[in-house]
Amino acid sequence: MEIIHVSAECYPMAKAGGLGDVVGALPKYQNELGHVAKVVMPMYRTKFLYQNEWELVHEGGQALGNEWFKYSVIKEKTNKLGFDLYLVDINGKLDRERIYGYDDDTERFVAFQLAVCDWLSRWQHKPDIVHCHDHQTGLVPFMMRHAYAFRYQLGNVPTVFTVHNGEYQGQFGWDKYYYIPAYDSWNRGLLDWDNAINPMASAVKCAWKVTTVSPSYMDELKHSANGLHNLFEYEKGKSIGIINGIDNEVWDPETDSFIVKNYNKELVEKGKDKNKLELAGQFGLDPEKPLITFIGRLVGEKAADLLPDAISQSVYQYQGKANFLILGSGDPWIEEQLSHMNQRFKGYFNSYIGYNEGLSHLMYAGSDFLLMPSRVEPCGLNQLYALRYGTVPMVRNIGGLKDTVVDYGDKDGFGIKMEQSSVGDIAYSVGRAIDLYNNKHDLYNAMREKMMTIDHGWDMSAKQYLGLYESLLPTNKISED
Ligand code: ADP
Ligand code: GLC
Repeated sequence: MEIIHVSAECYPMAKAGGLGDVVGALPKYQNELGHVAKVVMPMYRTKFLYQNEWELVHEGGQALGNEWFKYSVIKEKTNKLGFDLYLVDINGKLDRERIYGYDDDTERFVAFQLAVCDWLSRWQHKPDIVHCHDHQTGLVPFMMRHAYAFRYQLGNVPTVFTVHNGEYQGQFGWDKYYYIPAYDSWNRGLLDWDNAINPMASAVKCAWKVTTVSPSYMDELKHSANGLHNLFEYEKGKSIGIINGIDNEVWDPETDSFIVKNYNKELVEKGKDKNKLELAGQFGLDPEKPLITFIGRLVGEKAADLLPDAISQSVYQYQGKANFLILGSGDPWIEEQLSHMNQRFKGYFNSYIGYNEGLSHLMYAGSDFLLMPSRVEPCGLNQLYALRYGTVPMVRNIGGLKDTVVDYGDKDGFGIKMEQSSVGDIAYSVGRAIDLYNNKHDLYNAMREKMMTIDHGWDMSAKQYLGLYESLLPTNKISED
């Protein structure tokens, strides 16, 4: 099968969060299973772009409303990523350093989707599946079915849409309807939600299959999805939750070049100690105390707003028996509070505000516990990386966290779970972590070994996606493959 993944992120070209990790790994594993999976994404001005060689594969033009724009598609030359990576360049729109957060994001991503559909429509043959990820690509299923359906024969190509995060939907006003080719009053309903053009809702309506990144999040979306729950309930017949995997080659404590001491299950204690020592040195912390870290976007969804109070309370309540380290960026007021705390809780707490891929690896390796009190967590990759690096996840019992972590108080458990995203629940979990670290050493060691044995690689989930694609192919295709 030939599968085209369409996404705004793909590691290592550009990553803001887990979407980049998933789109940078899933295609590689699909290729290893004997298929041809490719990725197409915007050409931002990132380091990866300048450090690699590219060849031009197509040039074209499209209209975004009244504005005609030219685009080109380039391909990474060496195929070293394990999949073909194509970048769409649109001057003045996609050629920026950051991925998101510009006033014209709507125009940028609609233009990207128009270019992708136009490019695909010009292929001699058609791909077997177009797999779109998150709202930045949510209009592709509509466009393929309507604008590019007959003339360009994209209408029969099955589309799959994966919801990585239902909180962000990319809505924009109907005053911009003319951006969308083939819009008319008959198909308005396929674009609309709550009187706005809603790319996520449109994808859920128009894609042949809808997936999200864990079975529990699929259930949750039917009750709470930032206003789309009724739609997810309505479309449940074509929807499924498939848990994310992790790229075991990128995230491997035995070979990871970002960490100071490599280790495996047998050498976990010594290995982690060395990495912890490095972190303690860099951030002025005490390597003898349990180190609890948080890595992620500093936003409400991750309950990052609770961290200042929860950490202050924990430092007082447990008399400084644990150390804390945070890596993240996001809401300015959270960043500011954390930066203040660096001084106030010197020796007990520190934070690094910003994005730092290398430091994140060192933190998975050198921490004892990783905190994820998320309010919403469709899958979560951090807890999976933590498990692989022998770091005990402390997670809220929702979404993908619910599906991948078992509390150590339960049979075969290896993590710490909290029921609510609250300061009290976080502080209580910190108490359990300190107790585990200081008083239950044998259990703690056994848990680490168990965690590191669990396989969260992509194999199983990549196969599940392939099964889903196969169910969409015309029967003659199945027998051909
Ligand atoms: P989300 O996609 O919702 O942000 P995930 O848990 O799926 O959450 O994935 C987050 C990914 O982004 C992980 O690879 C994590 O290590 C990484 N990450 C998040 N914030 C940072 C940061 N400030 N620096 C480095 N890596 C980060
Ligand atoms: C989203 C979700 C996160 C998930 C990631 C990759 O950003 O917030 O939970 O792991 O996508 O699917």
